[in-house]
This record gives sequence, structure tokens and C-alpha cells, in this order.
Amino acid sequence: MDGDVMPLLPQAAYDRWSGVYDDADPSTSLDEPFLLAMVTPFTGCRILDLGCGTGRYLRLVNQPGASVVGMDLSQGMLVRAMQTLVPKASIAWVQASFERFPFADGSFDRVISGLILDHVHDLRSFFHQIAAVLRPGGRLILSAVHPMMQRLTGATVRFVVQGQEYHVQGTVHEVETIAESVQEAGLDIENLLEPEVDQELIARYPVWRARLGCPALMLLAAHKTG
Ligand SMILES: C[S@@+](CC[C@H](N)C(=O)[O-])C[C@H]1O[C@@H](n2cnc3c(N)ncnc32)[C@H](O)[C@@H]1O
Repeated sequence: MDGDVMPLLPQAAYDRWSGVYDDADPSTSLDEPFLLAMVTPFTGCRILDLGCGTGRYLRLVNQPGASVVGMDLSQGMLVRAMQTLVPKASIAWVQASFERFPFADGSFDRVISGLILDHVHDLRSFFHQIAAVLRPGGRLILSAVHPMMQRLTGATVRFVVQGQEYHVQGTVHEVETIAESVQEAGLDIENLLEPEVDQELIARYPVWRARLGCPALMLLAAHKTG
């Protein structure tokens, strides 16, 4: 490794990481079936992907008749998503932070979000904004790295580009705290799963052997009441 580890804020980190970012982490085999089971798009369905990254979830909801917005803070990640996704849905791209959503109330039928919660500091504001942009009856589908996995592997996000190692500080949120914040925002939890790393996952990804039995992700679906 050349040089010292360099700490970065998320925007600079993901811009730098975007060129080599691999969105096929082993845990994605756990959240993608959940997303597909819960998202149930329909003709005219308006979907917001918060922190869309290189478009992993967008590729799954990219269906004719849907109207999809990919939002991310990092221009580099958005450019990779745009370059790799062949649109079947109507797709718009927005570079913005989830600290302040640039959307009108009730704009979406679905809000989907994969693996960004460790970058969210203010859960209350985050889930209130999600509740605001959902129409009544609309649904949130979210995955997050499980806090036990964050403790096992370290909450700091690490990556290497051209021999230089970078760190982005991650926040650990307890599952109970997340669930309380979701409910406090007026969202009714329909499903909350904490899938563990099992033998089947290790058979496919032996490098995860040391993580056997640890909850890998928190998967949550909730709908807006009223
Ligand atoms: C671990 S990646 C996950 C990407 C994608 N959702 C997935 O599951 O593959 C985290 C993403 O969150 C984005 N992000 C971090 N902070 C953000 C913020 N304040 N607002 C919007 N996006 C942010 C990053 O740019 C990055 O694309």
C-alpha cells in the first residue's frame, strides 16, 4: 500500500471509489430478493432510489411503465449508473443529499434504498423526509448493514484506489433505534428481517467464513399510513 490511509467525507470518497466500485457484495444476494418481493411496481409507479450508487437497485426496478428517480450525492456514482443502465423505465437522475430531499410531498409510490444508512447521521430527519415524499399508502423498502456486522468488521468503510487506502467514517444505528425512527415518522413496519451469514452464503463466498452466524443486513419494509 502506498502512503497513509486517507480519511474522506462521503461525497469525495464515492467520487474517487466510483471508477472501481463493485456493487456485487455477497450481502446483495440477501437484499435483492427482499427488494423484488416488496417493491411490486405497477404501471405509473413512481420510485425513488435514495443513494442509488452505481444503480444496483435501479437495474431491478427498471421496468416499462415505471417512473424512476436515482438520487445520489456522488456525481461519479451517478455517472457509472447512467453509463451502465439501459433505460426501460422513465429514468431521471438527481445529484443531491438525503440531508435535504429536493422533492415535493407525496411525489413517490415507493422509496427504495440500499446500504446507505451508515452514512445517515440524523435518522429522525431521514425517515421524516421519506414519509413526506411518499404518498399515503406508499412504501419504503430499505436495506442496511446490520449493526452486529458493522461491529465485527468495523463501522468505517474502507476501499483502495490505485494503491491508496481511503476511509469513510460510518455510523452504527441499532435495529431498535431504526425501527423506532421509522414508526415515529408515521410509517408502519410490514416486514423487518435480520438475515444471518449462513452455510449457503459461505459456500458461494468462502471469504466470508469468519462471519458465519452474524446478522449481515437489516431489511425493512414499511408503508405510509393515512
Ligand atoms: C454503499 S453505497 C450503496 C449504493 C447502492 N445503494 C447499492 O446498494 O449498491 C452508498 C451510497 O450512498 C451515497 N451517499 C452517501 N452519502 C449520501 C448523501 N448524504 N446523500 C445521498 N447519497 C449519499 C454514496 O454516494 C453511495 O453511492
